[in-house]
Amino acid sequence: MSNLLVLNSSASGEASVSNLLVQEAVNQIVDGNLATHVVRRDLDLDPLPHLTSRTAAGVRAEPATPAERESRALSDALVAELQAADLIVIGAPMYNFSLPTTLRAWFDHVLRPGVTFGYSEAGPKGLVTGKRVLVVEARGGLYSEGPAQAADFQEPYLRQLLGFIGLTDVTFVRAEKIGFGPDARAEAIAKARVEIARFAQPQAIAA
Ligand SMILES: Cc1cc2nc3c(=O)[nH]c(=O)nc-3n(C[C@H](O)[C@H](O)[C@H](O)COP(=O)(O)O)c2cc1C
Repeated sequence: MSNLLVLNSSASGEASVSNLLVQEAVNQIVDGNLATHVVRRDLDLDPLPHLTSRTAAGVRAEPATPAERESRALSDALVAELQAADLIVIGAPMYNFSLPTTLRAWFDHVLRPGVTFGYSEAGPKGLVTGKRVLVVEARGGLYSEGPAQAADFQEPYLRQLLGFIGLTDVTFVRAEKIGFGPDARAEAIAKARVEIARFAQPQAIAA
């Protein structure tokens, strides 16, 4: 049995490009029998709490209070889902040049010292290894080339967050210029579909 973990984070519901493309990726992965069990986290519909002074120690230190223990239990559950996954598909809209805070809150709960990353003499070491990740990015503008390239704090940040916990086999699919009108939107979706189909080929998964 292979497990697929799916994270959605768009606040646009049915109109969301990342939700649409993530669902297509999931369908192709499941139809191709590349994953037999799917766990979904819609971080928009069921947002995780921000870490605060009441809860942060539950994730980053030793929990001592009821609120910290609750925070630890939530983090444990999210980390278990992550560790059980063979394949992870993440829908990531660009919000204010970076991630939706709902998705960032997921990372805040799964970047756990001693659990998903450790420190060695050689520096930090990711402990969540042997998984493939597909990130579907949707953006209003164009960042992969041109003058706004330096304002892309989304993809480098996601690469850093994922790599920090050992997820280094990451494929990014970008749907860009979503805000440039219906033709540009359709073109971006069509281009992303080709890349998703390539990712979902059996040999690509097994590679
Ligand atoms: C709160 C918010 C912030 C946004 N910030 C940016 C941005 O910084 N750059 C950009 O190109 N598009 C931005 N957009 C547009 C979205 O990236 C675009 O609509 C994309 O399609 C969102 O993904 P979705 O369709 O999956 O919801 C923003 C949209 C929202 C709602």
